[in-house]
Amino acid sequence: MPPPTAKKYAFDVVVFAISQVALYYAVKYVLSSLDPMKDKKKEAKAKSEQVLGKLGRKNMKLNEYEEVILSEVIFPEEISINFKQIGGLDPIIQSLRESVIYPLTYPHLFTSPSGLLGVSKGVLLHGPPGCGKTMLAKALARESGATFINLHVSTLTDKWFGESNKLVSAVFSVAKKLEPCIIFIDEIDAFLRERRSSDHEVTGMMKAEFMSLWDGLTTDDSVRIIVLGATNRPNDIDYAILRRMPKRFAISLPNEEQRKNILDIMLQDQHLENNFDIDKLVAKTANFSGSDLKEACRNAAMIPIREYMRSHSTSDGDLTDIDPDKVNIRPMRFSDFFVPEGSVLQSTKNTVTSPGEVEQEQLD
Ligand SMILES: Nc1ncnc2c1ncn2[C@@H]1O[C@H](COP(=O)(O)OP(=O)(O)OP(=O)(O)O)[C@@H](O)[C@H]1O
Ligand SMILES: [Mg+2]
Repeated sequence: MPPPTAKKYAFDVVVFAISQVALYYAVKYVLSSLDPMKDKKKEAKAKSEQVLGKLGRKNMKLNEYEEVILSEVIFPEEISINFKQIGGLDPIIQSLRESVIYPLTYPHLFTSPSGLLGVSKGVLLHGPPGCGKTMLAKALARESGATFINLHVSTLTDKWFGESNKLVSAVFSVAKKLEPCIIFIDEIDAFLRERRSSDHEVTGMMKAEFMSLWDGLTTDDSVRIIVLGATNRPNDIDYAILRRMPKRFAISLPNEEQRKNILDIMLQDQHLENNFDIDKLVAKTANFSGSDLKEACRNAAMIPIREYMRSHSTSDGDLTDIDPDKVNIRPMRFSDFFVPEGSVLQSTKNTVTSPGEVEQEQLD
């Protein structure tokens, strides 16, 4: 048999190289098709490209965890709530401007050689349900001019379990890349509640990672990132977390004056009868939360519409043809706020505490 020629050797080497490359791509393809998160990652990538485009940062390099976090960014135009729609919380809104918006947008006002003007990197809104905490945060997202990350705890845990720590550090690295930035965590007690021995190990590690990265913000005055939390169970939050949120705002049940403000806003575009006594309504709604007031207004506003529909329906209950130009619905009356028996609509909230205090308050 003749000895193999150099040509044959070269041919074998090329065939071997091609087969190795083919094997590499085949393994890669099989692994990626086995990845249960494949679709989610694709979705996150598409969303993050969209968000980066909107932010005007198309060339920003992000890893796959940062891409997931980026999908939690909210843009002002996606939010319909502004500060004017929030009743009775003007002093809190003003304090939030001073402790959240201005430090992020005018950092030079808050720098001093002594470091005494250092801005709080954690702000907590707390108080009973339905009093406007989430609403305030949304309005802040719209009006702050900062990047707003609406961080859902489920994003850190859901399915990606095991990678939670990487997602937690992505939260802070994305915030740093997009500063000034507000990281908002609604119902923060669910995420950062007191650590228990029964906690899953991953949950414990995730919290620890979150806290240590948060500390990183506190020690660097030039970082323009604030963590904003909201909760109706402040006492469930880990003390170590509370310590990192020295600015706390109590948003309590609205007092008489606040209810008047809220009702004025809620009823401002409503057609009311001439002698509608809003003060009487304020007096009748003691212990109502903002959300109870909203519900009461919604129910009352439905009554003239329901009357109109009933007077324009056939015996089978179908509506007769209504000419949109001839619709004539009567104005809302004070009595619409009363159920037929004559009692004022019940507050859906039953644990009644003292009327609203709008001052910043220390928790016990
Ligand atoms: N001060 C307010 N001014 C106007 N509307 C209010 C006010 N407070 C509450 N509302 C109404 O109640 C709804 C619920 O409020 P929101 O979700 O902000 O309550 P919350 O304090 O976050 O409650 P929870 O603790 O249950 O999450 C709002 O969407 C709004 O319609
Ligand atoms: Mg809320």
